[in-house]
Amino acid sequence: MLYQIKSYLKFLWYSKNEHAVHSPFVFNLITKCFYDKESKPDPGGSEQAKQYAILKEYRKSLLKNKNTIEVTDFGAGFKVFKSNIRQISEIARTAGISPKRAELLFRITNYFQPNTILEIGTSLGLATSALELGNPKAKISILEGCPNKANQCQLQFQKFNVNNVELVVTEFNNYLENCHLQPENCQLIFFNGNHSKTATLNYFELLLPTISNDSVWIFNHIHWSPEIEEAWEIIKKHPKVTVTIDTFQWGIVFFRKEQSKEHFVIRL
Ligand SMILES: C[S@@+](CC[C@H](N)C(=O)[O-])C[C@H]1O[C@@H](n2cnc3c(N)ncnc32)[C@H](O)[C@@H]1O
Repeated sequence: MLYQIKSYLKFLWYSKNEHAVHSPFVFNLITKCFYDKESKPDPGGSEQAKQYAILKEYRKSLLKNKNTIEVTDFGAGFKVFKSNIRQISEIARTAGISPKRAELLFRITNYFQPNTILEIGTSLGLATSALELGNPKAKISILEGCPNKANQCQLQFQKFNVNNVELVVTEFNNYLENCHLQPENCQLIFFNGNHSKTATLNYFELLLPTISNDSVWIFNHIHWSPEIEEAWEIIKKHPKVTVTIDTFQWGIVFFRKEQSKEHFVIRL
């Protein structure tokens, strides 16, 4: 916790807003997508306000759910190391994406309109619902290792008519090493499971063959620990990476050839 506070203070010191950004690509992304002009209550009920209301409902129905399931935890070396019983509401509250981040994920997906999306770490589908609403036409593949969470997630999808999602119950490495993904399979990737340095860099390397100019990769919790910060620094330096944006919780990575290499630290 102390480490994260120090890290956040450092972030505040270095972070900027759109006025310090000269890249038109990043300036537009910040002003037209990151900064949410429509988040205030809208008496007319804009399309975006309606989508936010669906995200809220999705979360509310999980937070109300006091049923319990046995969860499979994934530990170091990706081995299953223990089992335990948890309430659905507790899983949603502790491991799910926050309401503000779900709205941001919705806006990013809506802004880039990726045809294909891969989510690594799904749990109960809070982030998936934002990805799906952001581009309902996208083909979405999502990975979750715990079969009982995956079952609950499917039930939520049925309740909220989330139909265009392929949920794969798998250990991440097994899937990523054997699935032979192509660029057309995962234009936007949300990395949200197993926040260790080794795992993050491993997924990064395994997915590099899929990059294209339109790839958008979002890494969650890049300042979680010194190790994960090291992984983020290595990713930034990778020769194929051009633009990165550090928003403290997320690190967003682009591989656009026309951009010169530049790293932005942006306050949301
Ligand atoms: C932080 S949660 C995902 C939260 C979700 N994106 C959301 O917004 O609600 C990470 C999930 O990844 C799964 N997970 C972690 N490591 C894994 C691994 N190596 N293989 C498969 N699943 C894993 C966990 O079971 C957990 O449900």
